[in-house]
Amino acid sequence: MRLEDQSEVSTLSPSFSAQDGRALLVDKFGREITDLRLSITDRCNYKCVYCRTGKVGAQYPELPLADYVRMARLFVRLGIRKIRLTGGEPLLRHDVVELVGELARLRSRDGQSVEVALTTNGHLLAELAQPLKDAGLRRVTVSMDAVEAERFARITRVPRSYEAVLAGVRAAREAGLKPLKVNCVLLRGFNEDQIVPFAEFARQADVVVRFIEFMPLEEERVWSPQIVVTMDEVLERLRSRYPLHEIRRDPSETARRYRFDDGLGEIGIIAPVSHPFCGHCSRVRITSDGKVRTCLFSVFEHDLADLMRKGATDGEVMEWILQVVLTKEERHHIGEPGFVPASRTMVHIGG
Ligand SMILES: C[S@@+](CC[C@H](N)C(=O)[O-])C[C@H]1O[C@@H](n2cnc3c(N)ncnc32)[C@H](O)[C@@H]1O
Ligand code: SF4
Repeated sequence: MRLEDQSEVSTLSPSFSAQDGRALLVDKFGREITDLRLSITDRCNYKCVYCRTGKVGAQYPELPLADYVRMARLFVRLGIRKIRLTGGEPLLRHDVVELVGELARLRSRDGQSVEVALTTNGHLLAELAQPLKDAGLRRVTVSMDAVEAERFARITRVPRSYEAVLAGVRAAREAGLKPLKVNCVLLRGFNEDQIVPFAEFARQADVVVRFIEFMPLEEERVWSPQIVVTMDEVLERLRSRYPLHEIRRDPSETARRYRFDDGLGEIGIIAPVSHPFCGHCSRVRITSDGKVRTCLFSVFEHDLADLMRKGATDGEVMEWILQVVLTKEERHHIGEPGFVPASRTMVHIGG
Protein backbone atom coordinates (compact mmCIF):
# COMPACT_ATOMS: atom_id res chain seq x y z
CA MET A 1 0.00 0.00 0.00
CA ARG A 2 1.27 3.47 -0.76
CA LEU A 3 1.96 5.62 2.25
CA GLU A 4 1.19 8.88 0.51
CA ASP A 5 -0.93 9.52 -2.52
CA GLN A 6 -0.07 12.60 -4.55
CA SER A 7 -3.76 13.08 -5.32
CA GLU A 8 -4.44 13.60 -1.60
CA VAL A 9 -2.73 16.98 -1.65
CA SER A 10 -4.89 19.58 0.07
CA THR A 11 -5.94 22.80 -1.64
CA LEU A 12 -2.87 24.75 -2.66
CA SER A 13 -2.28 28.38 -3.36
CA PRO A 14 -2.15 28.90 -7.17
CA SER A 15 1.54 29.85 -7.00
CA PHE A 16 2.48 26.27 -6.08
CA SER A 17 0.61 24.68 -8.94
CA ALA A 18 2.04 27.00 -11.62
CA GLN A 19 3.32 24.86 -14.49
CA ASP A 20 5.36 27.59 -16.18
CA GLY A 21 8.73 26.17 -15.18
CA ARG A 22 9.50 29.03 -12.76
CA ALA A 23 11.89 28.00 -9.98
CA LEU A 24 10.10 28.34 -6.66
CA LEU A 25 12.82 27.26 -4.25
CA VAL A 26 15.28 30.10 -4.63
CA ASP A 27 17.24 31.59 -1.76
CA LYS A 28 18.03 35.24 -1.26
CA PHE A 29 21.37 34.86 -3.05
CA GLY A 30 19.63 33.54 -6.16
CA ARG A 31 20.62 29.89 -5.69
CA GLU A 32 17.99 27.41 -6.86
CA ILE A 33 17.45 24.54 -4.41
CA THR A 34 17.03 21.25 -6.25
CA ASP A 35 18.73 18.73 -3.97
CA LEU A 36 17.35 17.34 -0.69
CA ARG A 37 19.46 15.29 1.74
CA LEU A 38 17.16 13.30 3.97
CA SER A 39 18.58 11.64 7.07
CA ILE A 40 16.48 8.73 8.29
CA THR A 41 18.45 7.77 11.39
CA ASP A 42 21.39 9.02 13.43
CA ARG A 43 22.24 5.49 14.54
CA CYS A 44 25.39 4.00 13.06
CA ASN A 45 27.11 0.61 13.11
CA TYR A 46 30.57 2.16 12.47
CA LYS A 47 32.68 4.51 14.57
CA CYS A 48 34.76 6.19 11.89
CA VAL A 49 37.55 8.04 13.67
CA TYR A 50 36.76 11.34 11.90
CA CYS A 51 33.02 11.18 12.61
CA ARG A 52 31.84 9.44 15.79
CA THR A 53 33.48 8.86 19.14
CA GLY A 54 31.50 5.65 19.62
CA LYS A 55 30.87 6.70 23.22
CA VAL A 56 27.49 8.20 22.48
CA GLY A 57 24.85 6.58 20.35
CA ALA A 58 21.83 8.04 18.61
CA GLN A 59 20.70 11.33 20.09
CA TYR A 60 17.59 12.17 18.10
CA PRO A 61 14.33 10.35 17.43
CA GLU A 62 13.43 8.88 14.06
CA LEU A 63 10.14 9.58 12.32
CA PRO A 64 7.64 7.18 10.78
CA LEU A 65 8.18 6.59 7.07
CA ALA A 66 4.99 8.43 6.15
CA ASP A 67 6.37 11.67 7.65
CA TYR A 68 9.54 11.50 5.55
CA VAL A 69 7.48 10.74 2.46
CA ARG A 70 5.19 13.72 3.07
CA MET A 71 8.15 16.04 3.66
CA ALA A 72 9.86 14.82 0.50
CA ARG A 73 6.67 15.10 -1.55
CA LEU A 74 6.15 18.73 -0.55
CA PHE A 75 9.77 19.65 -1.24
CA VAL A 76 9.48 17.95 -4.63
CA ARG A 77 6.33 19.95 -5.42
CA LEU A 78 8.41 23.07 -4.86
CA GLY A 79 11.27 22.05 -7.16
CA ILE A 80 13.47 19.36 -5.60
CA ARG A 81 14.70 16.95 -8.30
CA LYS A 82 17.14 14.79 -6.34
CA ILE A 83 16.73 13.14 -2.95
CA ARG A 84 19.68 11.50 -1.21
CA LEU A 85 18.98 9.28 1.80
CA THR A 86 21.63 9.40 4.45
CA GLY A 87 22.26 9.17 8.18
CA GLY A 88 23.84 7.91 10.50
CA GLU A 89 23.72 4.69 8.57
CA PRO A 90 20.53 4.68 6.48
CA LEU A 91 20.61 0.92 5.84
CA LEU A 92 19.97 0.34 9.55
CA ARG A 93 16.36 1.44 8.98
CA HIS A 94 14.43 -1.79 8.42
CA ASP A 95 12.00 0.04 6.11
CA VAL A 96 14.57 1.72 3.85
CA VAL A 97 13.58 -0.31 0.76
CA GLU A 98 9.93 0.66 1.20
CA LEU A 99 10.94 4.31 1.59
CA VAL A 100 12.98 4.23 -1.62
CA GLY A 101 9.94 2.76 -3.39
CA GLU A 102 7.74 5.62 -2.14
CA LEU A 103 10.24 8.31 -3.09
CA ALA A 104 10.87 6.81 -6.53
CA ARG A 105 7.18 7.31 -7.34
CA LEU A 106 7.37 11.08 -6.82
CA ARG A 107 7.41 13.28 -9.90
CA SER A 108 9.23 16.59 -10.13
CA ARG A 109 7.51 19.81 -11.20
CA ASP A 110 8.38 19.09 -14.83
CA GLY A 111 6.91 15.57 -14.61
CA GLN A 112 10.23 13.71 -14.44
CA SER A 113 10.89 10.99 -11.88
CA VAL A 114 12.87 12.17 -8.90
CA GLU A 115 16.43 10.86 -8.71
CA VAL A 116 16.66 8.83 -5.52
CA ALA A 117 20.18 8.20 -4.24
CA LEU A 118 21.75 6.86 -1.06
CA THR A 119 24.98 7.35 0.88
CA THR A 120 25.97 4.36 2.98
CA ASN A 121 28.96 2.86 4.73
CA GLY A 122 28.17 -0.26 2.67
CA HIS A 123 28.25 -2.73 5.57
CA LEU A 124 24.76 -4.04 4.83
CA LEU A 125 24.75 -3.33 1.11
CA ALA A 126 25.53 -6.85 -0.11
CA GLU A 127 22.04 -7.97 0.94
CA LEU A 128 20.22 -4.78 0.08
CA ALA A 129 21.69 -3.56 -3.23
CA GLN A 130 19.32 -5.54 -5.46
CA PRO A 131 16.12 -4.87 -3.44
CA LEU A 132 17.01 -1.16 -3.35
CA LYS A 133 17.60 -1.11 -7.10
CA ASP A 134 14.32 -2.94 -7.69
CA ALA A 135 12.53 -0.37 -5.51
CA GLY A 136 13.82 2.45 -7.72
CA LEU A 137 17.15 3.53 -6.25
CA ARG A 138 19.20 5.22 -9.00
CA ARG A 139 22.60 5.72 -7.41
CA VAL A 140 24.61 4.73 -4.41
CA THR A 141 27.69 6.27 -2.83
CA VAL A 142 29.72 4.02 -0.56
CA SER A 143 32.14 5.45 2.00
CA MET A 144 35.55 3.75 2.11
CA ASP A 145 38.55 5.41 3.68
CA ALA A 146 41.24 2.82 2.90
CA VAL A 147 41.84 -0.02 0.46
CA GLU A 148 43.65 -2.22 2.99
CA ALA A 149 41.67 -4.46 5.36
CA GLU A 150 43.62 -3.69 8.52
CA ARG A 151 43.70 0.08 8.01
CA PHE A 152 40.03 0.07 7.09
CA ALA A 153 39.12 -1.66 10.36
CA ARG A 154 41.27 0.81 12.29
CA ILE A 155 39.33 3.72 10.77
CA THR A 156 35.84 2.23 11.15
CA ARG A 157 36.70 0.53 14.45
CA VAL A 158 34.73 -2.54 13.34
CA PRO A 159 36.52 -5.86 12.62
CA ARG A 160 36.18 -7.34 9.11
CA SER A 161 34.42 -4.20 7.89
CA TYR A 162 36.58 -4.06 4.73
CA GLU A 163 35.40 -7.45 3.48
CA ALA A 164 31.75 -6.55 4.16
CA VAL A 165 32.01 -3.23 2.32
CA LEU A 166 33.81 -4.75 -0.67
CA ALA A 167 31.01 -7.30 -0.94
CA GLY A 168 28.56 -4.37 -0.83
CA VAL A 169 30.40 -2.57 -3.63
CA ARG A 170 30.35 -5.73 -5.75
CA ALA A 171 26.63 -6.28 -5.13
CA ALA A 172 25.85 -2.66 -6.04
CA ARG A 173 27.75 -3.02 -9.30
CA GLU A 174 26.00 -6.30 -10.11
CA ALA A 175 22.62 -4.73 -9.35
CA GLY A 176 23.42 -2.04 -11.94
CA LEU A 177 23.66 0.87 -9.52
CA LYS A 178 26.02 2.80 -11.78
CA PRO A 179 28.03 4.99 -11.80
CA LEU A 180 29.09 3.71 -8.43
CA LYS A 181 30.80 6.32 -6.28
CA VAL A 182 33.18 5.71 -3.42
CA ASN A 183 33.81 8.54 -0.93
CA CYS A 184 37.10 8.72 0.94
CA VAL A 185 37.69 11.30 3.68
CA LEU A 186 41.42 12.03 3.94
CA LEU A 187 43.11 12.72 7.27
CA ARG A 188 46.77 13.55 7.52
CA GLY A 189 48.65 10.85 9.40
CA PHE A 190 45.83 8.34 8.87
CA ASN A 191 45.23 7.60 5.25
CA GLU A 192 46.85 10.11 2.88
CA ASP A 193 49.13 7.29 1.68
CA GLN A 194 45.98 5.65 0.28
CA ILE A 195 45.52 8.24 -2.47
CA VAL A 196 47.46 6.39 -5.19
CA PRO A 197 46.12 2.93 -4.16
CA PHE A 198 42.60 4.41 -4.37
CA ALA A 199 43.33 5.61 -7.90
CA GLU A 200 44.30 2.03 -8.79
CA PHE A 201 41.11 0.79 -7.10
CA ALA A 202 39.01 3.24 -9.17
CA ARG A 203 40.53 1.87 -12.35
CA GLN A 204 40.25 -1.81 -11.44
CA ALA A 205 36.83 -1.78 -9.75
CA ASP A 206 35.23 0.61 -12.26
CA VAL A 207 34.11 3.07 -9.60
CA VAL A 208 34.35 6.84 -9.25
CA VAL A 209 36.55 7.52 -6.24
CA ARG A 210 35.96 10.90 -4.60
CA PHE A 211 38.39 12.30 -2.07
CA ILE A 212 36.78 14.58 0.51
CA GLU A 213 38.49 17.22 2.61
CA PHE A 214 37.88 16.65 6.30
CA MET A 215 35.46 19.23 7.75
CA PRO A 216 35.03 20.33 11.39
CA LEU A 217 31.87 18.26 11.92
CA GLU A 218 33.22 15.39 14.03
CA GLU A 219 32.03 14.49 17.52
CA GLU A 220 35.53 14.55 18.99
CA ARG A 221 36.36 18.13 17.89
CA VAL A 222 39.89 17.30 16.75
CA TRP A 223 39.73 19.22 13.46
CA SER A 224 42.59 21.53 12.57
CA PRO A 225 43.67 22.94 9.19
CA GLN A 226 46.84 20.83 9.45
CA ILE A 227 44.86 17.54 9.38
CA VAL A 228 43.13 18.47 6.13
CA VAL A 229 44.67 16.92 3.03
CA THR A 230 43.86 19.57 0.44
CA MET A 231 42.74 19.19 -3.13
CA ASP A 232 46.05 20.54 -4.44
CA GLU A 233 47.96 17.93 -2.45
CA VAL A 234 45.73 15.11 -3.71
CA LEU A 235 46.24 16.25 -7.30
CA GLU A 236 49.99 16.50 -6.82
CA ARG A 237 50.19 12.96 -5.45
CA LEU A 238 48.01 11.55 -8.22
CA ARG A 239 49.84 13.40 -10.98
CA SER A 240 53.17 12.08 -9.76
CA ARG A 241 51.86 8.70 -10.86
CA TYR A 242 49.27 9.24 -13.58
CA PRO A 243 48.60 11.96 -16.13
CA LEU A 244 45.16 13.37 -15.27
CA HIS A 245 42.91 15.87 -16.94
CA GLU A 246 39.92 17.74 -15.55
CA ILE A 247 36.53 17.01 -17.10
CA ARG A 248 33.43 19.18 -17.34
CA ARG A 249 31.00 19.21 -14.45
CA ASP A 250 27.73 20.84 -13.56
CA PRO A 251 28.40 24.04 -11.54
CA SER A 252 26.28 22.75 -8.61
CA GLU A 253 28.29 19.49 -8.47
CA THR A 254 30.39 19.43 -5.33
CA ALA A 255 33.20 17.37 -6.86
CA ARG A 256 35.81 18.49 -9.36
CA ARG A 257 36.20 15.58 -11.79
CA TYR A 258 39.32 14.11 -13.34
CA ARG A 259 40.02 11.31 -15.85
CA PHE A 260 43.18 9.36 -16.40
CA ASP A 261 44.68 9.80 -19.86
CA ASP A 262 43.80 6.25 -20.92
CA GLY A 263 40.11 6.84 -20.06
CA LEU A 264 39.94 4.13 -17.35
CA GLY A 265 38.42 5.19 -14.02
CA GLU A 266 37.42 8.57 -12.65
CA ILE A 267 38.52 10.62 -9.67
CA GLY A 268 36.54 13.37 -7.94
CA ILE A 269 37.77 15.82 -5.35
CA ILE A 270 35.35 17.48 -2.94
CA ALA A 271 37.18 20.44 -1.45
CA PRO A 272 34.84 22.39 0.83
CA VAL A 273 37.76 23.66 2.91
CA SER A 274 40.34 24.76 0.34
CA HIS A 275 37.96 25.49 -2.57
CA PRO A 276 34.48 26.19 -1.11
CA PHE A 277 31.54 25.79 -3.49
CA CYS A 278 28.90 27.58 -1.39
CA GLY A 279 28.12 30.01 -4.23
CA HIS A 280 26.67 27.10 -6.24
CA CYS A 281 25.08 25.18 -3.37
CA SER A 282 21.72 23.67 -4.34
CA ARG A 283 21.11 21.66 -1.14
CA VAL A 284 18.93 21.64 1.93
CA ARG A 285 18.85 18.92 4.56
CA ILE A 286 16.29 17.29 6.80
CA THR A 287 17.56 15.58 9.94
CA SER A 288 16.20 12.23 11.10
CA ASP A 289 13.99 14.03 13.66
CA GLY A 290 12.52 16.27 10.99
CA LYS A 291 14.45 19.54 11.34
CA VAL A 292 15.33 21.45 8.18
CA ARG A 293 18.94 22.64 7.95
CA THR A 294 19.82 25.08 5.21
CA CYS A 295 23.58 24.47 5.52
CA LEU A 296 25.82 21.74 6.98
CA PHE A 297 27.21 24.47 9.22
CA SER A 298 23.88 25.96 10.29
CA VAL A 299 23.57 27.01 13.89
CA PHE A 300 19.76 27.19 13.55
CA GLU A 301 17.25 24.49 12.63
CA HIS A 302 13.66 24.72 11.48
CA ASP A 303 11.25 22.24 13.03
CA LEU A 304 9.23 20.75 10.18
CA ALA A 305 8.17 17.68 12.15
CA ASP A 306 6.58 19.89 14.80
CA LEU A 307 4.76 21.95 12.19
CA MET A 308 3.31 18.75 10.70
CA ARG A 309 2.42 17.40 14.13
CA LYS A 310 0.42 20.55 14.78
CA GLY A 311 -1.72 19.77 11.72
CA ALA A 312 -0.37 22.20 9.09
CA THR A 313 -1.92 21.70 5.67
CA ASP A 314 0.25 20.95 2.63
CA GLY A 315 -0.12 24.56 1.51
CA GLU A 316 0.97 25.88 4.90
CA VAL A 317 3.97 23.56 4.97
CA MET A 318 5.04 24.66 1.48
CA GLU A 319 4.70 28.38 2.38
CA TRP A 320 6.84 27.64 5.43
CA ILE A 321 9.49 25.83 3.34
CA LEU A 322 9.76 28.81 0.97
CA GLN A 323 10.43 31.10 3.95
CA VAL A 324 12.97 28.69 5.45
CA VAL A 325 14.91 28.50 2.17
CA LEU A 326 15.20 32.31 2.21
CA THR A 327 17.25 32.00 5.41
CA LYS A 328 19.92 29.83 3.74
CA GLU A 329 23.38 30.95 4.79
CA GLU A 330 25.58 32.60 2.15
CA ARG A 331 28.60 30.41 2.93
CA HIS A 332 30.45 28.53 5.63
CA HIS A 333 33.31 30.02 7.65
CA ILE A 334 35.59 27.00 8.13
CA GLY A 335 39.07 28.01 9.21
CA GLU A 336 38.19 31.67 9.75
CA PRO A 337 38.76 33.39 13.12
CA GLY A 338 35.57 33.18 15.20
CA PHE A 339 34.26 30.11 13.32
CA VAL A 340 31.16 28.88 15.16
CA PRO A 341 30.75 25.09 14.99
CA ALA A 342 27.52 23.71 13.56
CA SER A 343 24.80 22.97 16.09
CA ARG A 344 25.12 19.22 15.33
CA THR A 345 27.90 16.93 14.21
CA MET A 346 27.85 15.10 10.85
CA VAL A 347 26.41 11.79 12.07
CA HIS A 348 23.40 13.64 13.54
CA ILE A 349 22.90 15.90 10.52
CA GLY A 350 23.26 13.53 7.58
CA GLY A 351 26.14 14.10 5.15
C1 LIG B 1 27.82 11.15 7.71
S1 LIG B 1 28.03 9.84 6.55
C2 LIG B 1 26.39 9.15 6.55
C3 LIG B 1 26.18 8.01 5.61
C4 LIG B 1 26.95 6.74 5.89
N1 LIG B 1 27.02 6.40 7.25
C5 LIG B 1 28.34 6.82 5.27
O1 LIG B 1 29.32 6.79 5.98
O2 LIG B 1 28.40 6.91 4.06
C6 LIG B 1 28.05 10.65 4.97
C7 LIG B 1 29.41 11.02 4.43
O3 LIG B 1 29.98 12.03 5.25
C8 LIG B 1 31.36 11.79 5.34
N2 LIG B 1 31.86 12.47 6.54
C9 LIG B 1 31.59 12.18 7.83
N3 LIG B 1 32.20 13.04 8.65
C10 LIG B 1 32.89 13.91 7.87
C11 LIG B 1 33.72 15.05 8.12
N4 LIG B 1 33.95 15.47 9.35
N5 LIG B 1 34.26 15.69 7.07
C12 LIG B 1 34.02 15.27 5.79
N6 LIG B 1 33.22 14.24 5.49
C13 LIG B 1 32.67 13.55 6.51
C14 LIG B 1 31.45 10.28 5.39
O4 LIG B 1 32.70 9.80 5.04
C15 LIG B 1 30.39 9.88 4.39
O5 LIG B 1 30.95 9.79 3.09
S1 SF4 C 1 31.02 8.32 8.42
FE1 SF4 C 1 29.10 7.21 8.21
S2 SF4 C 1 29.68 5.12 8.80
FE2 SF4 C 1 31.29 6.38 9.57
S3 SF4 C 1 30.66 6.80 11.69
FE3 SF4 C 1 29.98 8.51 10.41
S4 SF4 C 1 27.88 8.02 9.92
FE4 SF4 C 1 28.87 6.12 10.62
